[in-house]
Amino acid sequence: MCGIVGYTGNGKANAVLVEGLKKLEYRGYDSAGVALQHENRLLISKAAGSVSDLEKALDESGNRATAGIGHTRWATHGRPTDENAHPHSSCGKEIAIVHNGIIENHQRLRNRLLDEGHEFRSETDTEVLAHLIETYYEGDLLEAVFKAVEKIEGSCALVAISSEEPGRLVCARRDSPLIIGLGEGENLVASDIPALLAHTRKTKVLEDGEFASITAEGAEIYDSSGRVIDREIFEIKWDIEAAEKGGFDHFMLKEIMEQPDAVKETLRQRVDPESGKVILSELGLTAEEIGRLEKIHIIACGTAYHAGLLGKAVIEKLAKIPVEVDVASEFRYREPLLNENHLAIVISQSGETADTLAALRLARRQDLKVLAITNVVGSTVSREADEVLYTWAGPEIAVASTKAYLTQLIALYLLALYFGDARGSAEPELVLELVSGLKALPGQLKAVLSEESLSRLRAYCDHLSKWESAFFVGRNLDYAVAMEGALKLKEISYIHAEAYAAGELKHGPLALIEDGIPVIALVTQKAVFEKTLSNIQEVNARGGAVFAITMEGFDDVARQVESVFYLPPANEILAPVLSVVPTQLISYYTALARGSSIDKPRNLAKSVTVE
Ligand code: F6R
Repeated sequence: MCGIVGYTGNGKANAVLVEGLKKLEYRGYDSAGVALQHENRLLISKAAGSVSDLEKALDESGNRATAGIGHTRWATHGRPTDENAHPHSSCGKEIAIVHNGIIENHQRLRNRLLDEGHEFRSETDTEVLAHLIETYYEGDLLEAVFKAVEKIEGSCALVAISSEEPGRLVCARRDSPLIIGLGEGENLVASDIPALLAHTRKTKVLEDGEFASITAEGAEIYDSSGRVIDREIFEIKWDIEAAEKGGFDHFMLKEIMEQPDAVKETLRQRVDPESGKVILSELGLTAEEIGRLEKIHIIACGTAYHAGLLGKAVIEKLAKIPVEVDVASEFRYREPLLNENHLAIVISQSGETADTLAALRLARRQDLKVLAITNVVGSTVSREADEVLYTWAGPEIAVASTKAYLTQLIALYLLALYFGDARGSAEPELVLELVSGLKALPGQLKAVLSEESLSRLRAYCDHLSKWESAFFVGRNLDYAVAMEGALKLKEISYIHAEAYAAGELKHGPLALIEDGIPVIALVTQKAVFEKTLSNIQEVNARGGAVFAITMEGFDDVARQVESVFYLPPANEILAPVLSVVPTQLISYYTALARGSSIDKPRNLAKSVTVE
């Protein structure tokens, strides 16, 4: 995700900013830039690629500058290019800004500013903020930032500088973090603590809706009506490694905990609050093209394939289009029957997976349109697909995918609703229920991730960690979640885990059920509730120890199993978004108890760019 650093003091701003940006590299980014205050003007340097590329592009005349702002960008609006890298500036480059977040009404604002004669240099949403601040600037940057931020919808962490106010940084925060670092004769601001630690451990955290004005002498925080706020100093005790993980022991846990926000971001601007309709303005597919579809092929690998299995169920239910789901390495060699009335959907977090890419190319060679669901703007998959639906999970660093998977599910729900609407095939009542259910998910996910849930799951994992094999079972959508749960447990705890459709147990795997063996049962699907319960009894009868993940209201489950974990009630179609989370935590805590290398499991890589 994007990173921000700002500096004002008596040191060399150039060096401080570059060093701060390097501390944010672990978060993933695709371009970087700085703006320095130098002799009443701003020197702006930007480069696609790494911070080292930026270092080569730096203007040496800025070496004496003592204030400036820097940014690492993770592309959202617009490709990763020099022009789209931050800082962005006003027409005459007197004002420069760095920004994290998404400006939802950027198109409307851009049109207005263009009409007023502003000239844009990038494709980003951020640039409108630079021009808006310019419009309101009358000698006081804080005043102008106040007015500009009022006009934007969406999230923002913003730091601005002006050539006319040497040594001053102005900040604003809404839904995206900013932390002020208080040094000796110098002050800083950053989106993440690691960028501050070389200079200070004394910080003041900006809260949502607050603004700040920072100089070398001090930092003043203001609320949205301009009143000064007295914020206590927060002393950072973490070392650099803990700070990179936001205080969590592993990136995987950090990413699991980020899921409510990742889901919120992926839904943002895609559901019209008034009509409840799904709007996927990024897709060029016409209603006629959607209406003509005879079949959809979903193609992906690993966790993304498991998301595809759920996608099949939801698209078939809402859009009434038959869907086949293939593992990419199979699809590319099985000579699938394809024609131009079919659509291929490839799902890939990284957008670089070799097999998925080969499947995409095969589909295109056979005249299929390809729609990609990916998390990385500018990735090969996003460039080669005809249509792209981005997941906004932010960079995923742990090898085991968690937040990317959840946002892939959200993208598939949105797509199913969108196709259902275009084809007139979805039941209106169900659509309304799903749309309001989607909006409730971030809050429900927070409940699933409560301290109490975490300690309950951790206690269960002390038991699970002593076994060398385990089963995940479920029916219908629960079966797809069981597959994902088993993959995650294998991947990071090295326990041999198998997922089975619960109804299949008696066709073989029941032979392996012995006294105490852990069986994790997913029970969220009403239509097959009784059937799953009787499969659980088959396990009980052979001594298996069942841990059930079910929904509040499914009271009979508790009577049949050793332990039960309840999820907030949700429409069963959306239940996987909630039910997969305890399975992720089970894998995490089991691996922790076994002392495995959680973020980098043996033999695995984050991006599988070879066949
Ligand atoms: C498992 C995992 C992998 C990936 C798979 C596809 O936790 O992360 O199974 O899902 O390698 O990767 P992407 O989505 O990048 O194509």
